[in-house]
Amino acid sequence: MKKHWIGNSVAALLLVSASLVSTASFAASEKKDIGDPRNEQYEENHPDQYQTWKKTSESENLEDALKEDPNMVIMWAGYGFAKDYNKARGHFYAIDDVRQTLRTGAPTDENSGPMPMACWSCKSPDVARVIEERGEDGYFEGKWARLGAEITNPIGCADCHDTQSDNFKNGEPALKITRPYVERAFDTIGKNFDHQSRLDQQSSVCSQCHVEYYFTGPTKGVKFPWDKGTKVEQMEEYYDGIGFKDWTHKVSKAPMLKAQHPGFETWREGIHGKNKVACVDCHMPKVTKEDGTVFTDHKVGNPFDRFDDTCAQCHTQSKEQLRGIVSTRKAQVLNMKLTAEKQIVAAHFEAGAAWDAGATEDEMKPILQDIRHAQWRWDYAIASHGVHMHAPEVALEVLGTAVDRAADARTKLIRLLAKKGITEPVIIPDISTKLNAQKAIGMDMDKMNADKKHFLETVAPQWDEEASKREDKYSYE
Ligand code: HEC
Ligand code: HEC
Ligand code: HEC
Ligand code: HEC
Repeated sequence: MKKHWIGNSVAALLLVSASLVSTASFAASEKKDIGDPRNEQYEENHPDQYQTWKKTSESENLEDALKEDPNMVIMWAGYGFAKDYNKARGHFYAIDDVRQTLRTGAPTDENSGPMPMACWSCKSPDVARVIEERGEDGYFEGKWARLGAEITNPIGCADCHDTQSDNFKNGEPALKITRPYVERAFDTIGKNFDHQSRLDQQSSVCSQCHVEYYFTGPTKGVKFPWDKGTKVEQMEEYYDGIGFKDWTHKVSKAPMLKAQHPGFETWREGIHGKNKVACVDCHMPKVTKEDGTVFTDHKVGNPFDRFDDTCAQCHTQSKEQLRGIVSTRKAQVLNMKLTAEKQIVAAHFEAGAAWDAGATEDEMKPILQDIRHAQWRWDYAIASHGVHMHAPEVALEVLGTAVDRAADARTKLIRLLAKKGITEPVIIPDISTKLNAQKAIGMDMDKMNADKKHFLETVAPQWDEEASKREDKYSYE
């Protein structure tokens, strides 16, 4: 990545000290690679793109995934996702939502709070800005609250575009990967971004966030586990090889992996990805205005809402027909998902019972490995939400292997439990609702909710105030 302004000795000196950089406003002579993170700044030059981008705010419904499916509370026991997990909504809400989720806790100062800085990485163009100013370690180090006042603009223009380039200013696309760790990930799979075709780039910009990743190294930086490939078993082999775990399961003590949202990886394996139908073909179609000019609709949302500009560009079937196919596949994936969950939840409780009955580490090891693999595969198959559309056959196949691994674990568990004198079935507590499931694993939700409320009323507004003071001093060319 080239940095024009490093040639400027004053800027280079400032770079040495992160704290100095953050207080300096950019002198006009410092040409920056990363553009203004404020989306409203682009409205004047690009009104159509700005207005449609802003419409992502119309997708405002918060859907509580744990309420819908309390099994997941048990599957994520001991990990943040058991606290709460909402389905995705519009890009416009990325900052609000990461502040509001119980997973980010209720930090009271810059060093408190459970999550690392990396949790901001797919929420804002400020991330690319801070990485440019402070370097990757200067961005990643420390807890999530450390730079709360720096990361305040939701996903927007400077996440996908080189907004500093003359091309962009003249209305040409100029797509860009704005995170160095994403550039490296593409190099790993032999697909350097600058050498990609325009079609590939149109999906790669989405892959900056809609992918599987994990946090690693002394500063807990983001890395994509693509070194052996992007398929489920390749990433599993990678994680096993480096002995990585996201957390230790509270009930079974298994060394668990949490899949993030491998939408890009599953799309690649599906029929559209294989035919080079890009994310953008369905989620950001080209549309024609009344005056006959064409632009890209920036309201990233459900493609069925603009059927004529999306599916109908390539398919002759009616909207009802295609919707019917997609809903049938959704139901099939959901059904297999629940089948896998039933087995995995039982395996966690049976493993807990085996520990209680005096099982040894050696006896448990192969069982816990089966549980790890079962749940990783389940998560990979469903965590990207749209999989029933993008690659239903991949989801069903991978869920099938999840059921298989869970069955392996349970077969071994039955034998082990019998050896320890337990022949009755292990009792599964009442997990019929989200709250009951959370109670069953001893979570104090009232306290978490109260702390979060306090954080949102006191700390978050301070962040916004500091940010607006800083931004008042910006002078981007
Ligand atoms: C999620 C990624 C993403 C975001 C966010 C985004 N764009 Fe785009 N933008 C694209 C893609 C993809 C294209 C189409 C590129 C192509 O045709 O190859 C595009 C095209 C454009 C173009 C070229 C003309 C056109 O309509 O095709 C302009 C200008 C533009 N965007 C401006 C903006 C502005 C202004 C914002 C912020 C309000 C923004 N973009 C936010 C991905 C994004
Ligand atoms: C900078 C990170 C980032 C980039 C780049 C990005 N997304 Fe997203 N996307 C997110 C996050 C985070 C959410 C969830 C936001 C929320 O729920 O608050 C999301 C939500 C979505 C949703 C759900 C929207 C809804 O209304 O329910 C879709 C669809 C989507 N993204 C598709 C895309 C596509 C297609 C691209 C590329 C053109 C893309 N995204 C680029 C991070 C990103
Ligand atoms: C062939 C069209 C098509 C392509 C290509 C495509 N999507 Fe989708 N995607 C859809 C449809 C349709 C849905 C909604 C399915 C439904 O209504 O159940 C969807 C759903 C999603 C969702 C879930 C939205 C939510 O609110 O739950 C995300 C996120 C998403 N897509 C991202 C992507 C990304 C990232 C890519 C590229 C890697 C991509 N899509 C490629 C058609 C497509
Ligand atoms: C840019 C072109 C393009 C767009 C846009 C597109 N598709 Fe496709 N679609 C394809 C191609 C190419 C195939 C593969 C055809 C084949 O192999 O016969 C395909 C196959 C399919 C199939 C059958 C394959 C299977 O999985 O059994 C379905 C269903 C489908 N598309 C639904 C949709 C829906 C729904 C949308 C809109 C959300 C959509 N497509 C948008 C090009 C497109």
